[in-house]
Amino acid sequence: MGMCRAPYGSAASGPMACTGPRQWLRQYNARASLDPSAPPSALRVSLARYLARLGYGTRKECERLVASRQVRSASGAILRDADPFAHDDVRLDGAPLDPPPGSVVLLHKPVGYVCSTRDRPPLVYDLAPPRWLQRTPVLATVGRLDADTSGLLLLTDDGPLNHQLTSPRWHLPKGYDVTLADPLRGEEAEQFASGTLRLQGDDAPLRPALLSAQAPRQLRLTIREGRYHQVRRMFAAVGHHVVTLHRATFGPLDLTGVALGHWRVLSPEEVSGLRQAVQEAKGSR
Ligand code: URA
Repeated sequence: MGMCRAPYGSAASGPMACTGPRQWLRQYNARASLDPSAPPSALRVSLARYLARLGYGTRKECERLVASRQVRSASGAILRDADPFAHDDVRLDGAPLDPPPGSVVLLHKPVGYVCSTRDRPPLVYDLAPPRWLQRTPVLATVGRLDADTSGLLLLTDDGPLNHQLTSPRWHLPKGYDVTLADPLRGEEAEQFASGTLRLQGDDAPLRPALLSAQAPRQLRLTIREGRYHQVRRMFAAVGHHVVTLHRATFGPLDLTGVALGHWRVLSPEEVSGLRQAVQEAKGSR
């Protein structure tokens, strides 16, 4: 294990052991990122190393970007590799940088895209700049949506947050809009709410889920779990075939303002809201 400088610390920070991307991200988060009340701090990691972690190239390639004066501050000042910098102030060829470490991205997934970094394309990552797949750590999907499912998908490089959002112990409510092949018979909402329904092959019964009908074949199902193909299997268990499936909500978030195939970075306040919702979901178990 080599030694490296603190990712960004006060000028007084001394050299420290750097064990890799996770520690780097933890330190980044602790110092700079998700606390909206924290003052914007200057990062003191080498600029080239920072760009390389964001996927802009190898360390060598990013050193060349910096040396060729393509990296500047918002006011146009040339940034050198050892200069302190603030993420939001950096411009590469005039463009702001990609989301900083610790971000949460909300993506409106179209049908047909696969939630994987290495499956057969198209991948959800094809909706973002290709360099996102080179980030360290990668912006991983928070759980998955089937290729046939559209809707709200989160991505984050914050591993502990990702774990909290997907852990079966703490699942947030997620709302799915469902179109069925045939109209409801009438007893389905009660079956889903019972907390006794079992899916084929699963040991534990499902937690109660809320079904509301907009029309006999158009429904909203809200679940608090994330089992494999859960919604399709739930309807199959009560004798229905799902024709279309769309995730409309994830905890407090929805897709307002995000067009199909597009994405946006959550604000620090929205990430705090998500964390808060996890705490509340924990409390309500
Ligand atoms: N349930 C499913 O069946 N598919 C999804 O993609 C999400 C939930």
